[in-house]
Amino acid sequence: MSDWNVADLPDQTGRTIVVTGPTLGGLGHHTALELARRGGRVILAGRNPAKVEETVAAIRVEVPKAQLEALHLDLASLSSVRTAAAAAAQVGPIDVLVNNAGVMGTKYSRTADGLELQMATNHFGPFLLTGLLLPQLVQSEDGRVVTVSSLFHTFAGRAPLGPPREQKGRYNTWRVYGQTKLANLYLTSELERRLRAADLPVRALAAHPGFAGTHLAANGQYGRSSGGIASILDAGVKAVSQTAEAGAWPTLMAATADLPGDTFVGPGGFRQLSGRPRVVGRSRLARNEENARRLWEISEQTVDLRYP
Ligand SMILES: NC(=O)c1ccc[n+]([C@@H]2O[C@H](COP(=O)([O-])OP(=O)(O)OC[C@H]3O[C@@H](n4cnc5c(N)ncnc54)[C@H](OP(=O)(O)O)[C@@H]3O)[C@@H](O)[C@H]2O)c1
Repeated sequence: MSDWNVADLPDQTGRTIVVTGPTLGGLGHHTALELARRGGRVILAGRNPAKVEETVAAIRVEVPKAQLEALHLDLASLSSVRTAAAAAAQVGPIDVLVNNAGVMGTKYSRTADGLELQMATNHFGPFLLTGLLLPQLVQSEDGRVVTVSSLFHTFAGRAPLGPPREQKGRYNTWRVYGQTKLANLYLTSELERRLRAADLPVRALAAHPGFAGTHLAANGQYGRSSGGIASILDAGVKAVSQTAEAGAWPTLMAATADLPGDTFVGPGGFRQLSGRPRVVGRSRLARNEENARRLWEISEQTVDLRYP
């Protein structure tokens, strides 16, 4: 078990952190809250402006002087990601980008860009956003990209290397979710490799929260987090998992601790489901560098951006 403690989170004064998916009660909310509590300027990037404002208000109750800004971002739309990144250009240097937002277990659907919804939201959108914000991460002179993966990466079966705009075979939403979380680890390792090759002052790390009581399951199954059966599922998840607050700790450690690139941080408790964060390993498939390289090239073609 690690001795990392949220109370040791270093002072964030003067640092700018972008957190995607900051909806109240989720990991993004708690990540943003702790960074704001330590004096960081936090850009809350969400797809629903009313929900982002709700989180801003909740953080201000705890941290009245919190420096918070809202950014409209729909990761399931490549044009929205481009618009958001253009708006974020006025933010200046970015110290940390936290690719936190995600969906899980959604019904089969395709976005306006022709991409499967989970791959679009969890991988291709963050891939494009990371590339577009990279110049600002470089400007900070010690930037970090922290991408939130999952233990589900071990259920991927195989890497998502097929044509992203075609569905081959039967759609298994859990398998695809696992593949998106495997893709998060490939993005991290391949980005880190490319950053070192290009000698850029940015690191790529990954984190996973174990099992945390957020709205992820209800959102994925019912498209909402409250009302009828969605409330029941939401409450059920909370009853058997660690808190969302604790679920954010691995992300916070990856975002601030003195760790090398391509580090993966997760909870240190039983089967990594809960507990204080520590550096963790990943599946053999997730360590496959050739897959990471191929997914990178597919992603570049898919979003029409080459970087670094
Ligand atoms: N909770 C867990 O146990 C667990 C375990 C492993 C990994 N994770 C990962 O943790 C991350 C955060 O999830 P969470 O558990 O905090 O779930 P959550 O409470 O459902 O939060 C997910 C966030 O992602 C946002 N989002 C969804 N689709 C989006 C889109 N198209 N564009 C922009 N934002 C979008 C949601 O916004 P809306 O509120 O507008 O939908 C929400 O803010 C995800 O990447 C998930 O895969 C969670």
